[in-house]
Amino acid sequence: MARFLIALGVLLVLQIASSSKLVCHMTNWAQYRPGGAKFTSENVDPFLCTHVIYSLATINSFNQIVNVEWNDAEQYGRLNRLKSVNPDLKTFLSVGGTVSGISPFIAVVAKPESRAAFIRSAISYLRTHNFDGLNLAWEYPGHNGSPQGDKERFTLLVTELSKAFEDDAKDNRKTRLLLSANVAAIVPTIDRAYEVDKISPHFDFINILTYDFHGSWEAVTGHNSPLYRSSVDSGSHVHHNINSSVSHWLSLGAPAEKLLLGFPTYGRTYRLTTGVTSVGAPAKGPAEAGPYTRTAGFWAYYEVCDFIPSATVEWIPEQKVPYATYASSWVGYDDKRSFSSKVQWMTANNLGGAHVWTLDMDDFSGYFCSAGAYPLINHLRMSMGFPPKPTTTPGPTTTRDPAADFCRGRPDGLYANSADKTTYFQCFQGNTFLHHCQPGLIYWDSCKCCDWP
Ligand SMILES: *[C@@H]1O[C@H](CO)[C@@H](O)[C@H](O)[C@H]1NC(C)=O
Repeated sequence: MARFLIALGVLLVLQIASSSKLVCHMTNWAQYRPGGAKFTSENVDPFLCTHVIYSLATINSFNQIVNVEWNDAEQYGRLNRLKSVNPDLKTFLSVGGTVSGISPFIAVVAKPESRAAFIRSAISYLRTHNFDGLNLAWEYPGHNGSPQGDKERFTLLVTELSKAFEDDAKDNRKTRLLLSANVAAIVPTIDRAYEVDKISPHFDFINILTYDFHGSWEAVTGHNSPLYRSSVDSGSHVHHNINSSVSHWLSLGAPAEKLLLGFPTYGRTYRLTTGVTSVGAPAKGPAEAGPYTRTAGFWAYYEVCDFIPSATVEWIPEQKVPYATYASSWVGYDDKRSFSSKVQWMTANNLGGAHVWTLDMDDFSGYFCSAGAYPLINHLRMSMGFPPKPTTTPGPTTTRDPAADFCRGRPDGLYANSADKTTYFQCFQGNTFLHHCQPGLIYWDSCKCCDWP
């Protein structure tokens, strides 16, 4: 039955009905991870996200964009050729990072000539490599060595960039290059870094970095990306959550439809120092580095998948996110259920969509989590109401099944299958798609997700 229902999708050329964005970051350092964790542009699914942002290029001392990795040009080429597979896909180049701990944007914004050189370089570099847009990755104006006044100079850069992109489109009769930025999520950082009302009009979308709210630099456990504050939060920590962060952006005048909520495909780890394992438990430093990401402090979702079978998994009801703990290791991460909760919040607040950090930390091959390729991002895509992706594997189409008519006359969305709780229906434009939960889980209509029975 499942094959038949999924096969229905093959017969339809489905268009993305939703105007919302699903923007996915990929990183050029993920190519150095060992074995099945190695990720390059070849692993990008051209139908998964509406936009892919290639991270990261840097800026030289002449304020020009330059590659970081030896094979960036080749990877740009492979990524941008995916647009012939999916003509609706948009690609961005993320530029910034740090050089010896300092953002190159500090020098770029300092003088009108430096800004002009950067802008000329951006247009030429993006056109040469066939990108559709530029993503600014400066963490953050007014921080980490960036002097006072950079808040206002960042506004100048953004204003001049968007003007130059418009002029370039007009003068050369080309599609306008798009502009986005990664921006801070912590309330005092936002206040010090941005003239929100002045920069927002110039961006096509704004990626709020709604993760890294807590991590092993703190003395007690806390979640990487909680939706709401915890009752153990005190002082400024009461704002270290998605609800506070995005509400702050909105209160400063950012248009909701330009704001994208950040969805992490990784968790942050701690080393517990006592027998207490709850949120707010004493901790010192990170757990072991993951065997693939090899950096202490965080684990990719596929590394969390390897950890979970031996661990105790707990849901934090007030923050709507899970953590897992075993021996002295503690990880606060995201799963399908927490992604669903965040999508509900995102929709209720009319945000422009989601951005995911990163493609390469989801179980992109499906090898680790036994839940298919890209389990988290596919779930996110479906929860946001995007239609099923086109598939090129036709199945049998002759069997008739009454469940095939389940969605006739029903609104788009997810529905329980009363005949089999381990599956659920997705309705899209009157067509029925049957999906399976991961082994051991059943579908819950309350969260529109699969969870433990
Ligand atoms: C979410 O943020 C809003 C605005 O700051 C606040 O009024 C509300 O109480 C918060 N909700 C929760 C559950 O913390």
